[in-house]
Amino acid sequence: MSHLSVNEKLTEVCEWLQSSLPTYNWVGFYFANHAERTLHLKAFAGVPTDHTVIPFGKGICGQVAESNANFVVDDVKAQDNYIACSIYVKAEIVIPLFKNGKNMGQIDIDSHTPNAFTKEDEQFLEWVNSKVAAIL
Ligand code: SME
Repeated sequence: MSHLSVNEKLTEVCEWLQSSLPTYNWVGFYFANHAERTLHLKAFAGVPTDHTVIPFGKGICGQVAESNANFVVDDVKAQDNYIACSIYVKAEIVIPLFKNGKNMGQIDIDSHTPNAFTKEDEQFLEWVNSKVAAIL
């Protein structure tokens, strides 16, 4: 994998997660531009989304950019501050990605299955993000 660019490696991670786990229907990495307070989609696997730039504070992703905390959504319909990417999405998980203590962005996963994400997914994705931080 060492010959791949960072973006290519991130795409490989997205494709690996999306193809390995049946409830991970869309997987993407957003990275923060702290000066502009926006998140930018760098890599993904699944259906292309219109939401490639998300302001801090907007949607689940934008809230995590400000809170620095994991956000697990069992039912997206119950969320007021939510950006819909597909009518099929029922649940979502967003885990911030830290490098040297700084919130660099996040991994965002959408599921067509309600209540798809557990504490184990949180712990697993924190581990994935720690590995990804090492190649940034
Ligand atoms: N649902 C996200 C937007 C990104 S899409 O899931 C790809 C949100 O509310 O921030």
